[in-house]
Amino acid sequence: MRIGILNSGGDCPGLNAVIHGVVGAASQLGWEVIGFKDGFEGLLPPGDYKVLRPQDTLGILKLGGTILGTTNKGHFAAKVGKGDIAEVPADIVSKAKRTMEQLEIRALIIVGGDGSLTTGLQLYREGWPVIGVPKTIDNDLRATAMTFGFDSAVSTVVDGLDRLHTTAESHKRIMVLEVMGRHAGWIALWGGIAGGADVILLPEIPYNTEKVAEFIKARDAQGHHSTLVVVAEGAHLPSGELATIAENAGGEVRLGGIGDIVARRLEELTGKETRSCTLGHLQRGGAPTALDRILGTRFGVMAVKLAEEGRFGRMVSYQAYHVDSVPIEEAVNQLRLVEPDGEMVKAAKAVGICLGD
Ligand code: F6P
Repeated sequence: MRIGILNSGGDCPGLNAVIHGVVGAASQLGWEVIGFKDGFEGLLPPGDYKVLRPQDTLGILKLGGTILGTTNKGHFAAKVGKGDIAEVPADIVSKAKRTMEQLEIRALIIVGGDGSLTTGLQLYREGWPVIGVPKTIDNDLRATAMTFGFDSAVSTVVDGLDRLHTTAESHKRIMVLEVMGRHAGWIALWGGIAGGADVILLPEIPYNTEKVAEFIKARDAQGHHSTLVVVAEGAHLPSGELATIAENAGGEVRLGGIGDIVARRLEELTGKETRSCTLGHLQRGGAPTALDRILGTRFGVMAVKLAEEGRFGRMVSYQAYHVDSVPIEEAVNQLRLVEPDGEMVKAAKAVGICLGD
């Protein structure tokens, strides 16, 4: 049996771990894996792909990016209006289908975010054997408690904040760090909490810059002379903010993203020296964290399992816990050990790891 895998949309630390997991698990079943290059584009005739054998994925677990390449543009990525994703045109679908048929692909694993999985859903509804694997550093996909890549992005934010702490403190400044998150503030929230930010501004929570300024002044009065602000790139600008800045500057001003604007306003309102910086694609690049390597591997293994069971039209999903409370007696007297027959152990074995049993 032969299955296909493609990555689509923006890249994300952990994509190679998924590929590694899929190839490892598929090879244990004696299956062949075809990796399509540059997202769905690799499906277009004559087909741009490579056969992925376990030896082709040696050492890729720790690599950022994706060995297959990816794109958030191209023939399959048309968007209509805000956030709405257009159907892929019928002629493109039928061309791609020819490649699927010629290569006798029996399952197509699509590793992607909202847009790519929407395309995957369309193809599934048109009869394709599609399996989805959720991917986004923004962690904003529904129906999974976490996506791989998120932890790596958060770690980069934390590293950035750790560095900003010392320079902010030395200069008694406000430092504003703009992080990724077009629609959702997960990276800002988690990164901000873990990195000891004092202020976190999210797209989901309308904020008032004057209130933030008051908060900073109060900190100053208490002897905390530096402040770290994390702002998600998708945080909405309070209305009139740009006009106020321009008015104060006596004309038009050139500012970058939301981080620059927030910094400028906070400097005006507090009188404190303020600097901003944008982490940008640093959050998407580089080696995945251990957590993302494990999550990516488990996602890959589960995708192959779904293919084996013929359960198409489904997306691999991580079901985690929320913070709650339990009686103490439930926690003591019995340790939580690795389940020898549990899914994690099976995933390790599925990719060929020896556990000595
Ligand atoms: O969806 C993930 C994301 O990292 C967003 O937070 C960001 O706006 C976007 O991708 C940038 O993507 P690109 O520069 O590749 O178009």
